[in-house]
Parts: sequence; structure tokens; C-alpha cells
Amino acid sequence: MASRKPLVAGNWKLNGSLELLNEMAPELKAVAGEDVDVALFVPALLVASSAQQGVITGIQTVSEYESGAYTGEIQASLAKELGASFALVGHSERRHIFGESNEDVAAKFAMAQQQGLTPVLCVGETEQQREQNETESVISAQIDAVIEKLGVAALSQSVIAYEPVWAIGTGKTASPEQAQQVHQFIRAKIASLDSEIAQRLLILYGGSVNEQNSSDLFAQADIDGGLIGGASLKKDAFISICESAK
Ligand code: G3P
Repeated sequence: MASRKPLVAGNWKLNGSLELLNEMAPELKAVAGEDVDVALFVPALLVASSAQQGVITGIQTVSEYESGAYTGEIQASLAKELGASFALVGHSERRHIFGESNEDVAAKFAMAQQQGLTPVLCVGETEQQREQNETESVISAQIDAVIEKLGVAALSQSVIAYEPVWAIGTGKTASPEQAQQVHQFIRAKIASLDSEIAQRLLILYGGSVNEQNSSDLFAQADIDGGLIGGASLKKDAFISICESAK
């Protein structure tokens, strides 16, 4: 079985500051190493500072357009030029608040990859979809939109983050078993198309991860680290979550 190096990434969303970044950057670099990669998805305006300080940096969304008259959009090529290496695509807040469809997300995935960023494709079901037993079909459709557009090979240069919508910012974490079940489903789905890509693919869990629950989540066979929201804004909590992935 391919061994996968865990990745713990903080998603600051529309939070944080230059001051917080300056305070956290040296410690994040110190905790990262052979056993774990640590990344920060900072607000777009902090990408350059984060990357300059040597932190593995991601942008939280990118435009599907390469360039042109699209006021306010975030250009993937410029994020790359400023030092970003990852781009979140399809975070549930983008899907639910900003109405991004699976096809929109696939287009952003394509643009991120085309510009040399590694897309982190976020997938996950709502509480209602889980209750109606639709978790697997919802996640399949979210992943299939990318495979249909770009082929399964595109997943070899990407990361998937499973973030159940009902667990984001709610304090209601998926149990390690619930999360593992979905991660296993995702890996098996991709393995049915290409087993090597599936074995190498990092699948992160996100949704109310904190320093109390991270070890048990990260101990699951198909959970390769986490995408951390609220707790990534607290230095000690985030460092201890990163440590627990080693
Ligand atoms: O992308 C991370 C995220 O949506 C989870 O947020 O605050 O529940 O850890 P939080």
C-alpha cells in the first residue's frame, strides 16, 4: 500500500490578520517536517506574506476564468505567482452561500490545475441529505463532475477534503467511524477507476476538528489529515492538531 504523508491545513476563511500570520508562521514551520505537511489557506490578501514566510500556502477559491473583465475575481495564475501551492475548490460555503454548482467547481478545479496549483476538492453532504441516505450519491456527483470534465488522471495532482456540511462550524464532529466510512467510500470509488491514484490520494477530513478529537480521526486508515477551520485560528490548538497527525 502506498504510504501517504499527512497534511494538516488551516482554512482561515474570512478571518485572521497579518499580525496572526506573523505570530503563527514560525511555529507552523517548526511543527511541519518529515511526518506531516502543514498548510494555511489564508484570505487572498495574505497569500504573498504567508508564502514569503515559508508557510505552505493556499488560496481559498479561484476564478474559473484565466483573465479578463471579471471584477473582483481571484486569478489562479497570480495566486501561484505570489507563492500559493494549493487552491480550495468547492468549499461548502462557496457552494451554499455563493451558489457554486458541481460544474462551476469542476471549472475552478481545472483552472487551478492549469495554473500549477494543486486543487483541494471539498465534498460533503448536508444533514438532510445524510438523513435521506444520500451521502454517497451527493459525494459521487461532486467528484464525478471533475472526472467527467478532466478524467480520473486529474485526481493524481489533487487532494480531496471530506467536510460534512452539518459538521462545519457546528461543534458536531463526525465520529471517527462515520468519517472513515465516507473516506473509504471515496477511495474505493476512485480505485474502481484507477487503483494507483486512489492509493496515493490524500483525503482530508474537515468539520469541527479540534485538539481533543483530531488524534482519533487521523488514526483512521483512510483519513490523511485535516482541513481545520475555527481551531486553525488558535495557535496552540492548531499546533497540537498538527502534532497529532504525525
Ligand atoms: O474548511 C474547514 C472547515 O469548513 C471546517 O470548519 O470551523 O468546523 O473546523 P470548522
